[in-house]
Amino acid sequence: MTPDAASANQSARAVALRLSAATLAIAIAALGATLTPSRAGAQEATVQRPNVSHQRVVTKPPSEVSWRFTTRNLRQIKLRLRSARCSSRAELILDGRSLERVAVPKGRKTIGVKAFRDPGTHKLQLSVRPGGACRRARVTVYPPQIKEWIPIGAAIWSRHLSADPAFGDLVANEFDFVVPENDMKWAYLQPRRGVFDFTLGDRVVDFARSRGIDVGMGHVLVWHVQNPGWLWQRDPANPDATNPWTREELIEVMREHITTVVRHYRGAVPEWDVVNEAITENGSYRKNIWYRVIGPDYIELAFRFAHQADPDARLYYNDYGTETANNPHSDAVYRLLSELRAKGVPVHGVGFQTHVFPHLTGVPTAEAVSANFRRYADLGLRLQITELDVAIPGSMPKTPAAYEFQAGIYRDVARACQRQPACERFTTWGATDRYSWLTKSAAGLPFDPQLQPKPAWTAILDVLRPRGRP
Ligand code: GLA
Repeated sequence: MTPDAASANQSARAVALRLSAATLAIAIAALGATLTPSRAGAQEATVQRPNVSHQRVVTKPPSEVSWRFTTRNLRQIKLRLRSARCSSRAELILDGRSLERVAVPKGRKTIGVKAFRDPGTHKLQLSVRPGGACRRARVTVYPPQIKEWIPIGAAIWSRHLSADPAFGDLVANEFDFVVPENDMKWAYLQPRRGVFDFTLGDRVVDFARSRGIDVGMGHVLVWHVQNPGWLWQRDPANPDATNPWTREELIEVMREHITTVVRHYRGAVPEWDVVNEAITENGSYRKNIWYRVIGPDYIELAFRFAHQADPDARLYYNDYGTETANNPHSDAVYRLLSELRAKGVPVHGVGFQTHVFPHLTGVPTAEAVSANFRRYADLGLRLQITELDVAIPGSMPKTPAAYEFQAGIYRDVARACQRQPACERFTTWGATDRYSWLTKSAAGLPFDPQLQPKPAWTAILDVLRPRGRP
């Protein structure tokens, strides 16, 4: 937690992607527009109206430039134009949908448009034509600036929403998205074999929709905890099991669950924790029911089933204790993900739970987390902080200094996410110490039991929302 000047600079810096002039040149060349390279990476497109009388409808398509870019959550697009000789008209189109139409007077013009999109690859098009009575306009188009943001989310349990409206207000007013802390676990979604109950999971989705915030990660498709009793009844590890699952049966059970759940939430839940905690702290496979009955390929199968059910969903592997490298758990997860990626398994991202118990797990510094994040990003994976909380040790009095100490850890984790372009979301495992899987006395979350912000919340905002909520 040493102050880190480099990362402070980083957090102050606007997160912007400058698209290369080369991309632009290729795009324009493909479209056959007249192009002359200009200074400072700008490109010049000559837009010429066909030689027709002013009364005639212009039928020839206007000149168009386009860019493809991959970004984490898109927040704003800025584009600078210079129209020489004459005015022009421009239309900005994102992924085929018109974003903005503007008149560009002779001279310079900046177009700034808010455009919120999930992480992914987008196509931006600029269509330009001469304005007014002009027959020719000479328009210089500078490379666009793409501004990104990292949304901040909280895990919530639907039961608290109905019982405690002030809690719902806090979440909706302060956070950008929610994830279901418990409501989409097997025990709730499939309490009896083949009988699915989406009541509670739907409540989380409905809450987000009605309050104008997003739903983040669906949690969780395959795990070893909070499973229904009927799975255990036929678990070969259960001494009372009379008819233990066969591999084929359990694959089918897993396939049916994943398919039904992911299809139900298609369009509402953009990403899933597909497999949670498959590796143990000593780096071996966790010998859970899935591993024991199916074998290690249950992991690969789970991702394939989820991908079939919703090819648009981003699919994550999620685990704890993996925020920093050089421990058997973290390194084994890294190896697992390298292998899955090399095999072409549809795993798109890795979730770092980041449950910090400073007295047990040590304190993850921004530098150590960043270095670890880099190797995962190099695998082509998306990254998220998925379950952050920081327990204050029972032995530590809850003094202002203790809350500052806690805030320092939150700040470092946020910085590591902010400085890594592949890190897309930042989730705390709960919002307030009023409701936390940690005991109240651990006081691990950014809002206190009275729903007041703690220094941890200020630290998160300083790093991830330096200019306020978008
Ligand atoms: C893990 C799980 C979560 C949550 C916490 C606390 O981190 O991924 O679903 O239950 O444990 O129990």
